[in-house]
Amino acid sequence: MSVELDGNILVTGTNRGIGLDLVKMLAERTGQRSHIYACCREPEGSRAEALKELVTQYPGKITLIKLDVSNEDSVVSAVQVVSAHVGAAGLNLLINNAAVNMPERPALMSATGKQDMMLSYEINVAGPFLISKMCLPLLQKAAEIRSSDDGDNMSCRRSAIINISTLFSSIEKCPETFPMAQMVPYRTSKAALNMLTCCQAEDFKTHNILVAGLHPGWVRTDMGGEIAPLSTEESVRGMLNVMSSLSNKDSGFLLDWEGNRIPW
Ligand SMILES: NC(=O)c1ccc[n+]([C@@H]2O[C@H](COP(=O)([O-])OP(=O)(O)OC[C@H]3O[C@@H](n4cnc5c(N)ncnc54)[C@H](OP(=O)(O)O)[C@@H]3O)[C@@H](O)[C@H]2O)c1
Repeated sequence: MSVELDGNILVTGTNRGIGLDLVKMLAERTGQRSHIYACCREPEGSRAEALKELVTQYPGKITLIKLDVSNEDSVVSAVQVVSAHVGAAGLNLLINNAAVNMPERPALMSATGKQDMMLSYEINVAGPFLISKMCLPLLQKAAEIRSSDDGDNMSCRRSAIINISTLFSSIEKCPETFPMAQMVPYRTSKAALNMLTCCQAEDFKTHNILVAGLHPGWVRTDMGGEIAPLSTEESVRGMLNVMSSLSNKDSGFLLDWEGNRIPW
């Protein structure tokens, strides 16, 4: 069963790549009652031009929020602004999309430093941890509002956290995927994000908040590179279809943009 995505939706890392297209397609596909909180590090700067164009293109539908997921003060301020906007309606969907792949070029373990590991964990794991924790009361509010209609049924329309992960996080798939991309800080931080996904799913199921990991495919972005087979539109269209179909049975699992389950 598919449910239309709806309500208040927060996306991190939206000034380029997959995040930018998530905002665009959510603005296109969701109804009048929904609102998108598009977070990025510098909403006032030139790096957010494409995002600002979307705000103009979809009047009243998108609010830009300043957020650096690696900075706790920034997370607190961003969630305060969102909380004031959404009020009693709460937050229906949090998409933790912002991430880095350090060092930028796929590097051998010998060319990877501690700083690459620390930054990857700070942005790819501690960031989603913090923002999810701060957004929890808002997600709970949204889940409660729909309790009379939805009972114990979880969905991305009701209340959910989607952690954008990667095939490269899969420990089982590592022998197969390691030769094509070593990326040790990225892989290990995303594997930790998967464990965060499992922990959140267990912790938040009493509130009927769904939590799942999603692999967007190999996508043509600054991170994915020019030879990646998928466009951002194809990846995001697929991921939004998958999000629309998620239910209780999917919480605590990792799926790809076509809805296939990826082993841990
Ligand atoms: N592209 C792929 O093939 C692929 C494959 C598997 C998984 N993924 C995952 O998909 C997601 C999006 O990837 P992408 O390809 O769109 O990457 P991207 O083009 O490199 O964009 C990354 C986004 O994250 C933001 N970001 C980085 N650090 C941040 C921080 N500290 N605070 C807030 N925002 C921050 C960037 O903002 P700035 O412009 O300010 O740096 C940018 O908006 C990531 O989670 C990635 O791991 C991508």
